[in-house]
Amino acid sequence: MNKCTFTLNNGYEIPKFGFGTYLAEDKTLIESVKIAINSGYRLIDTAAFYNNESALGFAIKDSEINRNELFITSKVWNTDRGYKQTKLAFEKSLNNLKLDYLDLYLIHWPANKKQFSNAKEINAQTWKAMEELYLEGKIKAIGLSNFLPHHIEELKETAQIMPMVNQIEFHPGFAQVELVKYCQKNNIIVEAWSPLGRSDSLNNKAIKSLSRKYDKTPAQIILRWIVQQNIIPLPKSTTPSRIIENINIFDFELDNDDIELINNIKESNAECANPDEVDF
Ligand SMILES: NC(=O)c1ccc[n+]([C@@H]2O[C@H](COP(=O)([O-])OP(=O)(O)OC[C@H]3O[C@@H](n4cnc5c(N)ncnc54)[C@H](OP(=O)(O)O)[C@@H]3O)[C@@H](O)[C@H]2O)c1
Repeated sequence: MNKCTFTLNNGYEIPKFGFGTYLAEDKTLIESVKIAINSGYRLIDTAAFYNNESALGFAIKDSEINRNELFITSKVWNTDRGYKQTKLAFEKSLNNLKLDYLDLYLIHWPANKKQFSNAKEINAQTWKAMEELYLEGKIKAIGLSNFLPHHIEELKETAQIMPMVNQIEFHPGFAQVELVKYCQKNNIIVEAWSPLGRSDSLNNKAIKSLSRKYDKTPAQIILRWIVQQNIIPLPKSTTPSRIIENINIFDFELDNDDIELINNIKESNAECANPDEVDF
């Protein structure tokens, strides 16, 4: 790996590769995080919604790595949006994680107009709470998840601090090209959730053929495609061999034509969620 971090727009460093934890249950999660840290992962992604922050807290305490070498992310869930609730939710997450600061805190989903006539105001108030927590030093970087350009433009009308990260769904067949362009142009680092399309993308024909061409696994091809676009993938696995396999992608490079080949994949059976349409 060359430099193994990106510098966020506030100067804080974020690892270029992360570990997802959605649907990892407590005992398995603790074991998996241990293997992940030993394999070189430093960024660990959780959320209040995943209900595994306490277990992750144990895994962090148990690890032989210094806290300041780890990069821990959590997110405020949809039912906790708003100024006061966000502050309470943050303290709860911090407490569950047994930490005294978070590296990154995200708004998990924007409030949308389908559900809330005052969606813009809810997002602005949630962001205001995040800004204050950041200025108090309790969070090193603040950001968004599942925000589209129009949500970010609205937020900018009242924001004092620009978001540093947007975590979005990103995998073959759902590469959200315009959204990525917008974020990168605005100095917002993109993180990819469901980078493997919840494993659906591993069976894609083009991915399988590239796997043979480069003598790498389908997961490694996809994760390499993501890092070559300066996007941080967050693959989740609780299978020890896959945890190690997924991060071992820094010894090869995909040709531009092959990047293009993956960009042109159209089909995906993964979630492909539209944040303006979700009703949770
Ligand atoms: N911000 C958001 O709204 C949002 C939404 C969803 C997810 N996320 C974050 O993004 C992370 C990743 O997304 P995800 O968990 O939905 O999907 P994912 O990482 O695309 O896929 C996970 C699935 O792929 C399997 N897998 C992993 N590595 C593999 C490999 N090398 N070969 C074969 N199968 C492999 C895993 O199985 P095993 O575990 O059995 O190995 C698991 O079933 C989440 O864990 C979470 O941290 C964020």
